Amino acid sequence: MHKFEMSEPDNYYGYRSFAKGAFEFSRDEYFVHIRWPKGTHVMQADAFLRALQRDVAWNFFYGTVNFDAVFGTMNHYGTVDMFAGRYNDAYRKAGVDYQETYDGGELMALFKAMLHDWTNRGYDPFAAPGETGQAYGRKNGDNEAAITRQRIMAQRMVGCPGDTPIRTDANGYPMNRQFADVPQDQPVIKAEPGFEGEVCAFNLFAYLSRSDVTWNPSVCSVVKESLYCPTSEEFVLPVEHGNDRVEWFLQMSDEITWVVKDKITGAPRATVVMKAGDIAAMPADIRHTGYSAKRSMLLVWENNSSTIPDLIQQGKAPVTPVRF
Ligand code: PHB
Ligand code: FE
Repeated sequence: MHKFEMSEPDNYYGYRSFAKGAFEFSRDEYFVHIRWPKGTHVMQADAFLRALQRDVAWNFFYGTVNFDAVFGTMNHYGTVDMFAGRYNDAYRKAGVDYQETYDGGELMALFKAMLHDWTNRGYDPFAAPGETGQAYGRKNGDNEAAITRQRIMAQRMVGCPGDTPIRTDANGYPMNRQFADVPQDQPVIKAEPGFEGEVCAFNLFAYLSRSDVTWNPSVCSVVKESLYCPTSEEFVLPVEHGNDRVEWFLQMSDEITWVVKDKITGAPRATVVMKAGDIAAMPADIRHTGYSAKRSMLLVWENNSSTIPDLIQQGKAPVTPVRF
């Protein structure tokens, strides 16, 4: 028994339609259509599927996942809001914004069903545009292997005995075409006698040069609540992420342009061009998306502590890590 409604496949386009609460979703050859009691919204199918794929893979992520300026989810870690126009000043003022709150697992079931039905054979929502077929057209098969990829998470650190392995041709990770110049040598470890099993190191640049996905941070090291989440980026971050905590960006190679807006209203706040070696902290009261003209490497540093969003909401923790 589903906790959402799903139609039979449409006779012409072949896609199913879905409903949860007062939200309705359908797709045709090019577009996804969203309806709620006081409004409607349309997104390009590929843009919708790229955002949906991230929201599914990240289990609603930290804070807000805006698919665009209108539609998205806000994570309360247990329950999740699905909204339209809620964080868009113009929609709010016009009184056409809407949101419902669900059990996170129930909403996830709907999102997985939509992602499954609307992703055609040959389309990979995680891939850069030049590395995938098109999302468009009538229903044509599926791409289950691509959309059920698990986000790679180390227990302690990539390369440690028994942990997530380093990437090689042999374990299915060829070098990406845009990182052909990245050296692949691994560090030489000379541990003191007796510590051989406890010291490990790996080449993070080599690891990222072999990522087959874009805009999908893996967790490469875990120290208490400190998560190092490096990722390879090409084209556009498919969501505008609304932070509920500070997060740090370290640009490891090439260049990303970040467009930063107010989290609640969507008003423009800043454009930040980050070049290799630059470090920035994204405040806890913003949303941001990024543009990477050439595939680049980014380290996202997250504080995973579940106490932070409340402390920030109550004004007990700052929205920026430093005041100048
Ligand atoms: C972010 O929202 O901070 C984010 C998400 C995915 C990425 C990079 C940054 O690949
Ligand atoms: Fe973010």
